[in-house]
Amino acid sequence: MRIYDFELEVVYSTNKTLVGTQEPADKAVQKALEPGVSSFELISRISPWWALFKLQIEPESFVLRTIYPLRAERGFDPAAGPGPIMGALEFTQDITEDYAAVLFFQMLILGASFASSLVLFSVLYVIIRRAARTIAKRAEEKERLERELHQNEKLASMGRTVASIAHEIRNPLGIIRGTAELLLKRSQGQDDPPQNDPQTKLLGAIHEESKRLSQTVNDFLDYARPRTPLKVEVNLSRVLDQALAFWERETSDQKVRIVNEVAPGHVVLGDKDLIYRAVYNVLANALQAMKGPGEIRISVEREGSDTTLSVHDSGPGIDQSVKNKLMDPFFTTKEAGTGLGLSIVYTIMLSHNGRLSIDNHPRGGALVRMTFPDPKSDPGG
Ligand SMILES: Nc1ncnc2c1ncn2[C@@H]1O[C@H](COP(=O)(O)OP(=O)(O)OP(=O)(O)O)[C@@H](O)[C@H]1O
Ligand SMILES: [Mg+2]
Repeated sequence: MRIYDFELEVVYSTNKTLVGTQEPADKAVQKALEPGVSSFELISRISPWWALFKLQIEPESFVLRTIYPLRAERGFDPAAGPGPIMGALEFTQDITEDYAAVLFFQMLILGASFASSLVLFSVLYVIIRRAARTIAKRAEEKERLERELHQNEKLASMGRTVASIAHEIRNPLGIIRGTAELLLKRSQGQDDPPQNDPQTKLLGAIHEESKRLSQTVNDFLDYARPRTPLKVEVNLSRVLDQALAFWERETSDQKVRIVNEVAPGHVVLGDKDLIYRAVYNVLANALQAMKGPGEIRISVEREGSDTTLSVHDSGPGIDQSVKNKLMDPFFTTKEAGTGLGLSIVYTIMLSHNGRLSIDNHPRGGALVRMTFPDPKSDPGG
């Protein structure tokens, strides 16, 4: 505490060395003496921001200084007004401890807000992640449905054209095939069958080619007029043996090893002829993709209530850029292909409430998976 007189001289101070000096007087003291204005100021030795992060604040870091005009007493009459100014009174007080307490509460509030924001942010993050996953799943589903719709539209419009053309071709083709067969039998039935006779060779070629052509025409008709599948118990290994027998000659000519891991007794509910057709097409693709020697591995697995027949070949595998088009009708990468094989397989699997997937095997080559639903739980069965 200090008291100043009109000459700005310290006449009283708790610090005795300042008595008689003018050293501590400044503008604030002058203001208290002349216009009689009281004032106060906070003197801080360190920045309040820096103080926020300090564990220990030294004493006298924050000091409150207050200066009042010192007036003469005029008795107790309020009407008499304030007395004349006699000097100035200065108080300085170390408020570091109080200030530190306020700072501590500020830190507490800051910490609490930060923690609650963190919790809120984490909750929001989890919600957004979940929403994004759901949206992605829906988009995928939508894309799948659109693909199916697109496929069905194509099926419907092309189906009619293809059916009429195929129908027109089938009858004359049947006559050509029958006649060739008859002539071939006649020439083979002779006492001395002329095996190397050029005419018999030509007849054989006509018979073979017309047989192949009938197969193609039948493919077209299968595609164009997909029939409603029967719902009877079908033994998968028997259908597989039948399809493998059909491709036996190509398999041995190409030197392809067949690894058949399908144990007898796997039964699915469906149409034997259509399932045969599907397996036949998948095997044809595998043989054509390999072009030469290799291996075709066939297996069956049960996943829950579904039965999946897998065909894994050692060919070049699926080109990822065309993966989404493989099941489109008329999509082919082969010179002599019609591009109907997988489209027919897909339609057959759909009509059985099943699924078809074609992708690359982790060990290389293509992996085709035909999944049939559980025969017992089939709603239509
Ligand atoms: N096992 C496989 N390995 C590699 N690519 C395959 C395989 N199976 C199918 N593909 C690709 O899918 C395309 C479409 O097959 P899809 O069976 O529908 O028609 P295609 O075999 O070309 O003709 P089609 O079966 O009518 O004679 C093929 O052209 C081929 O590029
Ligand atoms: Mg094919």
